Amino acid sequence: MYRIYLCTGPHCSARGCARVRDALDAALWELRVGGVELLTSGCQDHCDHGPNLLIHPGATRYAGLTVERTREIVCEHLRDGRPVEEWVATPEMRRGAR
Ligand code: FES
Repeated sequence: MYRIYLCTGPHCSARGCARVRDALDAALWELRVGGVELLTSGCQDHCDHGPNLLIHPGATRYAGLTVERTREIVCEHLRDGRPVEEWVATPEMRRGAR
């Protein structure tokens, strides 16, 4: 069971998190990926790198999400269990620099 937290704070909202949420919902449905709870969160303190998505277990954070990237994250990470390393936040991003 994955719990995924999409930031809907003000900066991520301005960068299109609503479209990302719709794309995540659609990909989960279309690909019939179960065992995923899509939740929203307030600011995750990584505002300069949003939209941000945090996936548990594993505490994997994706930064700079786009609609186009969501489908691959759903396929590879949430369905197949392999994080998409290309889009995982770098250590600098994890420190919460704004
Ligand atoms: S608003 Fe999303 S990390 Fe701050």
